Amino acid sequence: MQLISDDDLDDLERAFIGRVRGRVLEIGAGDGENFGAFHPDVAWTGLEPDAGRRAELATRAREWRHPSTPLDATAEHIPLADSSVDAVVGTFVLCSVADVAAAVAEVRRVLVPGGRVVFVDHVAAPRGTLKRAVQNVATPFATWFDHGCHWNRDPEPELEAAGFSGADVRRLRVRSMPFGPVPVLLYEGVAPGGPPVE
Ligand SMILES: C[S@@+](CC[C@H](N)C(=O)[O-])C[C@H]1O[C@@H](n2cnc3c(N)ncnc32)[C@H](O)[C@@H]1O
Repeated sequence: MQLISDDDLDDLERAFIGRVRGRVLEIGAGDGENFGAFHPDVAWTGLEPDAGRRAELATRAREWRHPSTPLDATAEHIPLADSSVDAVVGTFVLCSVADVAAAVAEVRRVLVPGGRVVFVDHVAAPRGTLKRAVQNVATPFATWFDHGCHWNRDPEPELEAAGFSGADVRRLRVRSMPFGPVPVLLYEGVAPGGPPVE
C-alpha cells in the first residue's frame, strides 16, 4: 500500500470531492472543511447532527453562497425524499456513525439510480498488526472523546452489500506517529440502477 503524507491525502480528498455534480448531500459535514473542494456549480445540502458544528457550517455555507440550511439529522435517518440527490459525500464520517449499514442504506435511498458517492475515511489496519491492536484498544475511548469515531472500522463491505460498485477505490497509508501509518480508504462509487459504468 502506497505511503503518502497528510498533504497528499488532502489533495486526493479534494480531487475526489471535486468530481461530484448536481444535487449533492454532504453527510457529517462538520464545520464545512470541504466547501472549497466542491465544484462551484453543485447544489449543496449539508447534514450535521452536532449543533455547534452545524451553526458554524451554516455560516460557512452562506459565505460559500450555498444558501440551504444544514439538516439537523443523522446519516441513519436522512430527512430527504427517495431519489432526490445526485451524489453523496462524506469525509471521516462513516467512522463516526452509530450504524454503518443503516447509514449506507439511507444514502442509497436518497440517491438517484446511478448516483455517485464519495467517501474518505481512516480504516482498520490489517488484523494481527500492532496498528490494529492499538486501534482496537483506542476505539472505546475514541468513540467517547472523538465524536463517536471508531478507529478500527472499514465501511467497504457495507458499501458493497448496499449495492454500490467502486468506480475509483484507493487504499493508502498516511504517515503518522507513533504507531505507524494510518490506513485510509478513498471510495468513489456508483449506486445501482444507472447506465453501465465505463
Ligand atoms: C471527524 S468529523 C468529520 C467532519 C467533516 N466531514 C470533515 O471531514 O472535516 C465527523 C463528523 O460526523 C458527525 N457525525 C457523527 N455521527 C453522525 C451520524 N450518525 N450521522 C451523520 N454525521 C455524524 C460528527 O458530528 C462530526 O461532525
